[in-house]
Amino acid sequence: MAPILFHFPDSASLAESIRKQTDWEYGAWEHHRFPDGESRLRILNSEQVKDRDAVILLSLDKPNQKIIPLLFLARLLRAEGAARVGLAVTYLAYMRQDKSFHPGEGISQRYFAGLLDSHFDWLVTLDPHLHRISSLTEIFTVPARHGSAAGAIGKWIHNNIEKPVIIGPDEESRQWAEQVAGPGNLEYLVLNKIRRGDKEVEILFPEGFEWQGRQPVLVDDIISTGRTMIETALQLEKHGARVPVCIGVHGLFTGDAREKFAEAGIERIITCDSVPDPTNAIDISSVMVRLIKEMLPGPNPG
Ligand code: R5P
Repeated sequence: MAPILFHFPDSASLAESIRKQTDWEYGAWEHHRFPDGESRLRILNSEQVKDRDAVILLSLDKPNQKIIPLLFLARLLRAEGAARVGLAVTYLAYMRQDKSFHPGEGISQRYFAGLLDSHFDWLVTLDPHLHRISSLTEIFTVPARHGSAAGAIGKWIHNNIEKPVIIGPDEESRQWAEQVAGPGNLEYLVLNKIRRGDKEVEILFPEGFEWQGRQPVLVDDIISTGRTMIETALQLEKHGARVPVCIGVHGLFTGDAREKFAEAGIERIITCDSVPDPTNAIDISSVMVRLIKEMLPGPNPG
């Protein structure tokens, strides 16, 4: 039987794209917030859940707000008799806190993964920040897989940018820069970043690269404060290059990020629709459909 897909409200547009590619049924649910901030959830078509594979689709940006309704929804689906409950999370939060950086500090990545692990039968995600761990299986005991937006980003660059040079601002971005540049055999550079604080980064830039007539395209997994991209853009300017096009898989744009991009004169900022945002221009729905199908039992339905 085809699965039933429940989505969080801000993933409605992505859910619609998925609906067009599958014959999956859609789950309807309601989230009531009480005046004191507590949540009550209700599944509106609960009679359709029994013995079905249920999938919850959401982005875990603003994770602290979303985690309680997410875990409650998973519990409720089980209580209503779902055969399995899977998680299709387009942006997996807390992946950057993968180490105890100071004495006494918790490793949030593991704690957060533990919460999801205990509520879901499987998990799929897109471009998780894998730095000190190389696979999701190191932090999840349930089956967990990821896909990448690199192919879709490469296609977007091919269709929209002339003479691009792909730039990964730090070693961690090498995996995206290489994959994006690979199929079109595009030139790419990977820089070095020294992070001095949440909003303070230094980018080490190579001398002697010929920028004349080339369009720098910065590619990174996450745009959060924007400082990594903005600092890289300043270095590009110093080296006589054009204002870059900035592409992030997941655009979080925290705090004053948008103002800082504008101040730096960076106008072309493109993101994937893994985190809903006005900058979304790259559709990742087909990657999510493929990943979800891989997790469903039997011959891939839909
Ligand atoms: C870091 O390791 C990530 O790959 C990104 O480079 C980082 O999260 C970007 O953060 P921000 O936009 O705050 O500089």
